[in-house]
Amino acid sequence: TNISIIGVPMDLGADRRGVDMGPSAIRYAGVKRRLESIGYQIEDIGDLSVPTPESYPIIHDNLKYLDEIAKVNEKLAEAVDREMGRGRFPLVLGGDHSIAIGTIAGLAKHKKNMGVIWFDAHGDINTGETSPSGNIHGMSLAVSLGIGHPNLIHIYGNQAKIKPENVVIIGARDLDPGERKLIKQLGIKVYTMHEIDRLGMPRVMEEALEIVSRGTDGVHLSLDLDGLDPHDCPGVGTPVIGGISYRESHLAMEMLAEADILTSAEFVEVNPILDVQNKTAKVAVALLCSAFGDKLL
Ligand code: ARG
Ligand code: MN
Ligand code: MN
Ligand code: MN
Repeated sequence: TNISIIGVPMDLGADRRGVDMGPSAIRYAGVKRRLESIGYQIEDIGDLSVPTPESYPIIHDNLKYLDEIAKVNEKLAEAVDREMGRGRFPLVLGGDHSIAIGTIAGLAKHKKNMGVIWFDAHGDINTGETSPSGNIHGMSLAVSLGIGHPNLIHIYGNQAKIKPENVVIIGARDLDPGERKLIKQLGIKVYTMHEIDRLGMPRVMEEALEIVSRGTDGVHLSLDLDGLDPHDCPGVGTPVIGGISYRESHLAMEMLAEADILTSAEFVEVNPILDVQNKTAKVAVALLCSAFGDKLL
């Protein structure tokens, strides 16, 4: 496989600056060199341009920076579509999690029935109506399922980009009331920290891999670094204690690599401003290598 890295220095979907430096932090942690050393051919196509929040007023309090976020995601979808069309594996580096809207919309041009692993402390399944913050990074899964503001759900194609039965959420421990309701309504499989503690990560991943690969034509990994415990990943905008451990997350990535089903990935929410010695970006790169099949022996 050949990999195309696409950086998206997006922070309009979160309420804190710094996550726009995520792509640089992950590059600085050696993503290209490390993936090359395990045998991949890497092309880094650079960063998409993202407007600075200081230059734009907040028009919709419940959908902050709606128009600007929609524009960037349209461009991202185009880039992902193009790289997929060239037969390359799109690896998107964020940026806040609102960029999943564009990534998934671009993928949907090639994958009509894709599985999605949403690795996250959060559900990101709010709408403008249910969101407590108005931050669009908490809405991207809903949007990809075709639920939310028309300007977002119509990005790069009018229909829902993914189906609820093909999605699993892993690591959830902070879900808003409206998110719980929607998850139940749609019947989305969620492995909360409770299930991870009870069943253990091996069983969780066996089940999750079965769900996302059954009848699907590809699998996308949308990995929010806040899914991990803030002890291991302090450099994230919305940390939640009691998360997935470093070892558990590596095991999850290794099992994903063994299953050999991954067709695209994005790593989001790295915020070097809140970090200690670029620790979170280093974890992102280490996990990426495991997901791409790096082995000690
Ligand atoms: N549920 C909260 C909200 O809607 C937090 C979302 C955090 N999302 C993220 N991608 N880090 O505002
Ligand atoms: Mn408007
Ligand atoms: Mn999150
Ligand atoms: Mn998220």
